[in-house]
Amino acid sequence: MAAAKRNILVTSALPYANGAIHIGHLVEYIQTDIWVRFQRLMGNRVVYLCGDDAHGTPIMLRARSEGVAPEQFIARMNQEHREDFARFGVQFDCYYSTHSPENEALCYMFYERLKAGGHIVHRDVEQFFDPVENIFLPDRFIRGQCPNCKSPDQYGDSCEVCGKHYSPTDLINPKSAVSGAAPERRSSRHFFLHLEDFRDQLLALIRGGLVDAAVANKLEEWFGKELKDWDISRDAPFFGFPIPSEQNKYFYNWLDAPIGYLAALAKNLGGEAADAEEYWKLDDLEVYHFIGKDIIYFHALFWPAMLMGAGLKPPTKLCVHGHLTINGEKMSKSRGTFINAAQYARHLDTQWLRYYFATRLSASPADIDLSFEDFCNRVNSELVGKLANLISRAAPILTRLLEGRTGIVTADALPVLNEFRNAESQIAMDYDQRNFAAVTRRICALADKANKFVEEQAPWSLVKTDEEAARGVLTAALECGRILMIYLKPIIPEMAARVEKCLNIRPQSWRDIQNSMESHVINPFEHLTGRVEERKIQAMLEENKTETTTAAAPGIPATPAVPEEPLAPECSIEQFSAVDLRVGRVIHAEAIEATDKLMKVEIDAGPLGKRTVLAGIKKACTPEELTGRLVIFCANLAPRKMKFGTSEGMILASGPGGKDVFLLSVDQRATPGQRVH
Ligand code: 2FM
Ligand code: ZN
Repeated sequence: MAAAKRNILVTSALPYANGAIHIGHLVEYIQTDIWVRFQRLMGNRVVYLCGDDAHGTPIMLRARSEGVAPEQFIARMNQEHREDFARFGVQFDCYYSTHSPENEALCYMFYERLKAGGHIVHRDVEQFFDPVENIFLPDRFIRGQCPNCKSPDQYGDSCEVCGKHYSPTDLINPKSAVSGAAPERRSSRHFFLHLEDFRDQLLALIRGGLVDAAVANKLEEWFGKELKDWDISRDAPFFGFPIPSEQNKYFYNWLDAPIGYLAALAKNLGGEAADAEEYWKLDDLEVYHFIGKDIIYFHALFWPAMLMGAGLKPPTKLCVHGHLTINGEKMSKSRGTFINAAQYARHLDTQWLRYYFATRLSASPADIDLSFEDFCNRVNSELVGKLANLISRAAPILTRLLEGRTGIVTADALPVLNEFRNAESQIAMDYDQRNFAAVTRRICALADKANKFVEEQAPWSLVKTDEEAARGVLTAALECGRILMIYLKPIIPEMAARVEKCLNIRPQSWRDIQNSMESHVINPFEHLTGRVEERKIQAMLEENKTETTTAAAPGIPATPAVPEEPLAPECSIEQFSAVDLRVGRVIHAEAIEATDKLMKVEIDAGPLGKRTVLAGIKKACTPEELTGRLVIFCANLAPRKMKFGTSEGMILASGPGGKDVFLLSVDQRATPGQRVH
């Protein structure tokens, strides 16, 4: 009896509409798309939904800075995002937007039901307000000195230097990142979702398999104390949906973002919110959300609570993945590794990235690394050298010398072919459990066996003496290649389609693994994929280093115009002279991996000895450029304990920040330890 078909609704997180899709995002969309394609290949019914997360202050400000209405801005981003996903073969049934009539109707439905259930409470909240722009400022739009380590120019929620989390009201000398003005504290009434009402249901959900064990353990820690109410309102001006019957109050964009999944479903069903609700309520419907580990809280607590409070079932499963690092480091604009989807696609084959990510992906929420060296090896030796190889060697011989007609698989090949077919259930299980790395490993191992067989049988020689024997070997090679491509179809769908065309077969499904292609005429061979060339990767990185990219990290404001700095209190000449500036020679420098800003610099200060200074110049120069240089540094600054070690001084530099920080130049005749006046 055939297994019952599953009915699955799948989503990927909705990307913010304020930046381009980059390859860090693509980990998730490619992962989800592979899983969706696999489920479809198995004959399951899948609806795959996504869309832009289009509301919020950053998007409102971004549109304002471009001089366009937010609606116009998000429409452009939506188009760009669709194009980016299409380039990588990520195929949604519906790619929508949270700024849609369906979403608005659904938000009101959720709100009214949560309110009727007594789950909405109100409280006054004190927040920073920009008196120039007349807006309440999100934490990331406030900059100031860290209250802990006193580093300047830190975000309102945490310090990038010492790692401390704090409230924006703790910042020293806070400034609005929008106008540069000193923000005022203002109080206003906010709406909250009372999460504690759902404690037992949420715990049962988490223990019942909403997430894998590693994530569940982490989540349980949050239940150790009272669950905090969730602030779901923002004050005008705000780009979002107004709260009904309230003046100047809007729903926080994180409230309408997950409802956007349902809005996309409604759109996909023809535009009625009620239809989406009905569909969601289908008994056999499984709901899978693919998300990054940074947004677990929203999807494991707030969203299920909203659903349950509104009388809808919570998701079946959260598929949590880690973040992307490149060559072991965070994506970085200065290294050229902050790569947008469109930039990648201009230089490299998008199927390669799909394959490479698959080799690295499992169900684990650990970060995954894209090492370009490994990328080249895997594409060239596995994808081209093993997987495409079977078809690209056998097909041209068959068409050139044997009229392109397959025969009967040679008996010697049957053990190999059986192994290919018998791997089916294990590979299906790995796919279903999102263990794509295991899928590619198994497929490569099978390919090794088939390639070895072909090599031993040498059909290119055999054909000269025994055409039918050669035909049997080539038929076996093509059968193996065909089955491999069915296994790989969710990962590299375009390449699989090229194989189908070459073999002159209809689009294959999982069932076709057990079928055969004997006595059949294939098409002339066409190129399946090429090898990666190192120089193309270099060209992409180089271009990216110089190009100004529009991809602000989500929620991070573009650098504002330099604000007018109020003058600091006067200091006396005695105070000024108390600063002891010395010449030092950098004897060693190394970038601190875990931060974007800091470099650990060892200075030889002559008679003063050696000093270790943690300097915020990582983006401005490389350790190699710095080593051997003379610098001026403040030698009598009290040592400061920072997250990554103790800093014993401060190197003098100036500039607006980032890569534009310039070290004070020093006369090359100066000697380490010498005082500078
Ligand atoms: O973190 C983010 O990028 C959010 N835009 C994800 C939203 S997912 C869902 F809730 F809509
Ligand atoms: Zn700090």
